[in-house]
Amino acid sequence: MGDFPKDIFTESADVDPDTLANLGPLRRLAGTWRGEKGQDINPKADGPERRVFMETIDMQPIDPQANGPQLLYGLRYHVHINTPEEAITFHDQVGYWLWEPATGLVMQTVAIPRGQVALASGLAAPNAGSLVLNAVRGATDSGICSTPFLEHAFRTDAYRIEVTFHPDGSWSYVTSTTLVVRGQAEPFDHRDENRLTRIAEPRRNPLALSPVAPMIIATPT
Ligand code: HEM
Repeated sequence: MGDFPKDIFTESADVDPDTLANLGPLRRLAGTWRGEKGQDINPKADGPERRVFMETIDMQPIDPQANGPQLLYGLRYHVHINTPEEAITFHDQVGYWLWEPATGLVMQTVAIPRGQVALASGLAAPNAGSLVLNAVRGATDSGICSTPFLEHAFRTDAYRIEVTFHPDGSWSYVTSTTLVVRGQAEPFDHRDENRLTRIAEPRRNPLALSPVAPMIIATPT
């Protein structure tokens, strides 16, 4: 367990309503992104299948979030992926990227419509050039939960994401999802990677846009 304060209810008074100014290493992920040359390796009955994909990612700042004294700033994201061959969605994912300035904790929540969620975490400096986050099945702090069919047929033991920020403002990711596929002797490394270029700047978070923001965060006298 971490070194947590005794008072678990009192929230920090030092909250900046402007999330974009407090995202640490996640600032470079804010906005809307497009990548045309994604690469996927997924499990199929007769062996690994490789696919090329096109991806749009929208990441918008949310209002500062307090868990009692723990203060988080973050982005709400939506990943949508298609392939050149088919109109149907190839992969869809929603969640949050979160940053705790006090500790350098970075978290990504992952929800995919297979009936699967994960919370991945790692540590980073505010000016980090890369991020590495991990989730492991069975962990209660950075874990993975799956529907019983996936647990039976495609047990997901681990998830890892590595993000690299590039000097031109683009960024790339590599994800590795370790699947234990029923009937196969070795775990399967379901890998995805892409490089994203910004197509739109982020919008400001609701509190930063609100004309009453200074009143909401003012300390009572
Ligand atoms: C760019 C990201 C991703 C793409 C494009 C992608 C794509 C795919 C595809 C095409 C399949 C095979 C589907 C089928 O045969 O029905 C698959 C399987 C699977 N993926 Fe992903 N995936 C991505 C990321 C992830 C992530 C992040 C997770 C979980 C953390 C995940 C979990 C799974 C699981 C459990 C399966 C096996 C289920 C099955 O084949 O029915 N995937 N993925």
